[in-house]
Amino acid sequence: MSKIISIINQKGGVGKTTTAVNLGAYLADSGKRVLLVDIDPQANATSGVGIDQQSIERGIYEAIIGTSPIAEVIKHTIQENYKIAPATMSLAGAGIELVNMPRREYRLEDALNNIRDEYDYIIVDSPPSLGLLTINGLVAADEILIPIQSEYFALEGLGHLLHTINLVQNNLKSSLGIRGAVITMYDTRNRLSKDVMYELYQHFPNKVFRGVIPRSVKLAEAPSFGRTILHYDPRSKGARAYEKLARELIESDE
Ligand SMILES: Nc1ncnc2c1ncn2[C@@H]1O[C@H](COP(=O)(O)OP(=O)(O)OP(=O)(O)O)[C@@H](O)[C@H]1O
Ligand SMILES: [Mg+2]
Repeated sequence: MSKIISIINQKGGVGKTTTAVNLGAYLADSGKRVLLVDIDPQANATSGVGIDQQSIERGIYEAIIGTSPIAEVIKHTIQENYKIAPATMSLAGAGIELVNMPRREYRLEDALNNIRDEYDYIIVDSPPSLGLLTINGLVAADEILIPIQSEYFALEGLGHLLHTINLVQNNLKSSLGIRGAVITMYDTRNRLSKDVMYELYQHFPNKVFRGVIPRSVKLAEAPSFGRTILHYDPRSKGARAYEKLARELIESDE
């Protein structure tokens, strides 16, 4: 059975893409068939796995709009078992174009339904907004994974996000579940205060991943080489953290 996990947080720069790309890499490294889906016009996940946006003609935009079957836009990465449905520049207009389309909230789900059986995990990286693209990411998902950046304002905006997830559950996709929160960019100087941790556990009872992602320069450097951390520096603490997170996910699915 395949599982679609969307990485969502409308806050910018909290580690969504870093988590999507590297969690995907370690899921694939564990032998799982993984598809990374980039629905962010910034296309950071696409470049993060080494695909040059300029070099591709069609991407997830065409699959969402319906001008190409999704199977035709999927590309291999350099890693076995790890494929990507890339983002291209055209995606920037999709949020507006979708407004007048039939099944506008379901178009990603409809596209993924055609191929989901070919994968064990489909990981969707979404943009920092709660617009129609992100709504498509939510509706397409079986589960939501929320990266929480370890910083003073970590939980700011979380209420709004949880409210949006709730609206989607009530109106568009009742089976959507929250898989959990992952703490990212953790370091001893920036550790979350007891109050924030307490509040986080209130929001996500039993759903905060044990695997915490440390702040690590290697994780920030890897994308500029078009490499996941698995290929860039598998011994770094960031790599080990994503490896552990992937294991935690797989084990709790088994
Ligand atoms: N654990 C980490 N340690 C150090 N740097 C990190 C870590 N995680 C992410 N970064 C860096 O922080 C920045 C934001 O991360 P990332 O792009 O993953 O966030 P995002 O939530 O996808 O951002 P956006 O909202 O713009 O899509 C990037 O420069 C990334 O390389
Ligand atoms: Mg991103």
